[in-house]
Amino acid sequence: MCGIIGKTGINNVVPELINGLKSLEYRGYDSSGIAVINNGKIGRFRASGKISELEKELEKYRPESEIGIGHTRWATHGSPTKENAHPHVSPNGKFALVHNGIIENAEEIKKTLLPPDREYSSKTDTEVAVHLLEKYYDGDPVKAIVSACKEIKGSYAFGILCEDFPNTLFAVASASPLVAVKGEKESYIASDLCAVREKADLVYRLTEGEICSIEHNEIKFFDSEGKEIEKSADKISVDAQDLDKGEYEHFMIKEIMQQPQAVRNTIESLVSKGKIILPEVSITKGFFKNEISEIVIVACGSAYHTGLVGKNVIEPLCKVPCNVHIASEFRYSEPLVNENTLAVFISQSGETADTLAALRLAKKCGAQVLSVVNVEGSAIAEESDNVIYTKAGREIAVATTKAYSAQLIALYALGIFIAKQRGKITSEQERNFVEEMKRLPQKIGETLELVNEDVKKLAKEIFQSPDIFYIGRLSDYATASEGSLKMKEITYINSQVYAAGELKHGTISLINEGTPVVAIASQCGIFSKTLSNMAEVSARGAKVIAVTDEELRGDVTDADEIITVKNTLKEFKSSLLVLPLQLLSYYTAKLRGCNIDKPKNLAKSVTVE
Ligand code: G6P
Repeated sequence: MCGIIGKTGINNVVPELINGLKSLEYRGYDSSGIAVINNGKIGRFRASGKISELEKELEKYRPESEIGIGHTRWATHGSPTKENAHPHVSPNGKFALVHNGIIENAEEIKKTLLPPDREYSSKTDTEVAVHLLEKYYDGDPVKAIVSACKEIKGSYAFGILCEDFPNTLFAVASASPLVAVKGEKESYIASDLCAVREKADLVYRLTEGEICSIEHNEIKFFDSEGKEIEKSADKISVDAQDLDKGEYEHFMIKEIMQQPQAVRNTIESLVSKGKIILPEVSITKGFFKNEISEIVIVACGSAYHTGLVGKNVIEPLCKVPCNVHIASEFRYSEPLVNENTLAVFISQSGETADTLAALRLAKKCGAQVLSVVNVEGSAIAEESDNVIYTKAGREIAVATTKAYSAQLIALYALGIFIAKQRGKITSEQERNFVEEMKRLPQKIGETLELVNEDVKKLAKEIFQSPDIFYIGRLSDYATASEGSLKMKEITYINSQVYAAGELKHGTISLINEGTPVVAIASQCGIFSKTLSNMAEVSARGAKVIAVTDEELRGDVTDADEIITVKNTLKEFKSSLLVLPLQLLSYYTAKLRGCNIDKPKNLAKSVTVE
């Protein structure tokens, strides 16, 4: 949510700031801006809309400088206008600042710490930060940053320029990600490694209010009190392939097609010799065997849907109650979790603010905490005692696909692992699960190929529909939930999901002649029940699209279209059923001319509440 880039070097930094912002656009893309220091003065350039609008603005002035900061915004406080775009500049023009996060007490700061007659040039929460820097500045920017940050409640990563230090870039971060890297003749800050990963081998991650001051050949670190500290760096691993669309038109379709590999890599990291291994989980066998009383899964968005699938696999396998919570609800509830609870947090980015807050709450309550995370070194991974890393690689499209599929594998593995520790499955059953799991990457590849053309055709039939419904039962309901979210987030069609049996309690009145209803029907024991629900909507004129597998296809009735995926164990079916749903959203969005990789109003990582 919001992207920050900063550079100090020995050449003109403007082209690199723009390139950096383009690679960060997935974090927010409703306005952008840069600030540089030229001839000892701060110059600022901003535009609302995409970064191409900022480029047009820069074309007029052609600024050049060896130091600068840039920002791409996802609006929280204040609409996405030029006035609200970052950087913000202090009233005396000495400081320019970019911000990722939320200043929760901005109004209070205005009332209690800043002059009552002060005028503000934006409606943002951020602007108070730059006013505070001016207030506390006495010639030492680090001291001013320490004092300003002490007044701020909320989350922040700031990139800062100070006119009196025309060769030094300053940055500070607390509960919002920020990295610093030092190249040979240039140094950078960024809210995401992707913007700077090719510039150096080592990365420093700022946490807990740490501050850095950066010159082109030197970085100094300070703690939140302003005391200089030594900081260790992490090695950067670059997977350049992930940053390029290659032969594909969009990252989303590329990432859909990368799913066999994402799943294979995740499985390989979690199985060995026919058994599940969880290398970064140190919870004792005794906990799983005797102490565990409940599993809670907490997440947001698509990761929440993986949790729903996980519940339907884990609970019956492990015979432990498993409940799934939306992180933004969980964090403000009074959860009955304790030392006998296994609390599982799922997050692709490892940055989602609500999931992180929920994790901290569960820890405080004494729960055993385990996270399923795609981004190594992310806040959620760092704060978890136990982690299962999904190996999806970097995901760029805002709508998740390959990370979702990798998360499913992590939850299957967790379920099988716990079931084995608890003696609920035998070694032979574990081996059978592992064998079938290892066949999944191939089955995913085959299913994608099998359904692709049918789904493309189907998209042509439904893309003008104002509404679409998804139904299913148990894990099919979980898969339907993900299919429905995918559809609404990238096509903007009003898409709703319902537990199939719940339809007749209201929803059915929304079904009109030709309304598409996607029915996921893959669970043998309740197959006939879902068929009845399909018949009910069909009788009211719906266009019924059944999504099932080869085993059950012959028994489907009352469907206008049938999409068929490969067979697998019932526990793993969601991994195949979700594929046509991802493709259906993708092709529908394409026909509707939507901005598929960067849907309106959304952001890939949500670091604010
Ligand atoms: C955003 C993304 C979703 C994602 C959700 C949770 O809403 O657009 O695709 O599922 O955040 O993100 P996380 O990184 O925690 O999985």
